[in-house]
Amino acid sequence: MSSNLPKSIVLAAFAASTLMVSVPASAADKPKRDPAKKLYMTKTCMACHGKNGRKAMLDYPNLAGQDEKYMVRQIEDIISGKRTGSPDATGNPRSEGMRGALVTAEGERRISKDEVKMISKWLAKQKPADLKPPKEPLDPASVEAGKKLYSKKCKACHGREGKKPLKGNPYVAGQKRAYIYTQMVDIRNKDRKGPKLAGMYGIVKKMSDDDFANLADYLSQVDRNAK
Ligand code: HEC
Ligand code: HEC
Repeated sequence: MSSNLPKSIVLAAFAASTLMVSVPASAADKPKRDPAKKLYMTKTCMACHGKNGRKAMLDYPNLAGQDEKYMVRQIEDIISGKRTGSPDATGNPRSEGMRGALVTAEGERRISKDEVKMISKWLAKQKPADLKPPKEPLDPASVEAGKKLYSKKCKACHGREGKKPLKGNPYVAGQKRAYIYTQMVDIRNKDRKGPKLAGMYGIVKKMSDDDFANLADYLSQVDRNAK
């Protein structure tokens, strides 16, 4: 763990510096009026998850309109180290940079539990990101296969088209393709664990990477903002 620290500190510093650049631009929409939004900015969330949780960098998840309870649990699990994930391009677990930004080298939190709840409540109310066309055209046969598989195996928990999850479960519609795919692989390989994942694990443990690619193609192209 300690050998990973310098990298997370670098990431946190990067997050902080990106934030400093971003503050003047957003001062126009009066962040001071909304204490939760201000927290989202000062606690460096915005540097990685983007303005209003809609423009996350790299393959990081968008958060605008995500389930509130789900987010509180994930943030607390990332802070405590329960949610890690497979190694990313830096060789660290995927959540390491976020943890580095929210926990000091001495293990002290930089954000309180109440602040986590405030930010999650605010994020859940934000309009989800607009649908982004894929970088490369998707194979329509894959999208169709993903759609069928989704209705059979996933709908019970994540709702019709990934848009109506059971309370406390995540929305999966319109999330980034690469993020969805990686989480599916991590959940199957038990690189992402948790008591709430037992039911899903029973289903995905028999699935292939191709199944996940089909599901990610389909889900990433469902428009959360369409009625
Ligand atoms: C250094 C970048 C970084 C910072 C800063 C950061 N995050 Fe994250 N966050 C991530 C990454 C990367 C993931 C996905 C981890 C994975 O793939 O397992 C994530 C995951 C999450 C998730 C779970 C999303 C999901 O769909 O499961 C939530 C919620 C979240 N972050 C909220 C926040 C909040 C709130 C803050 C500020 C208090 C914050 N993050 C700061 C990078 C960051
Ligand atoms: C028995 C209920 C259940 C089923 C069936 C299920 N899931 Fe899940 N899924 C969950 C829960 C609950 C979580 C969040 C776990 C947590 O809180 O740690 C989750 C997490 C996810 C995530 C990560 C979301 C994020 O933002 O990080 C994705 C992607 C996902 N599921 C897709 C699917 C797909 C696709 C299927 C069908 C193959 C499926 N799930 C089947 C309950 C289920």
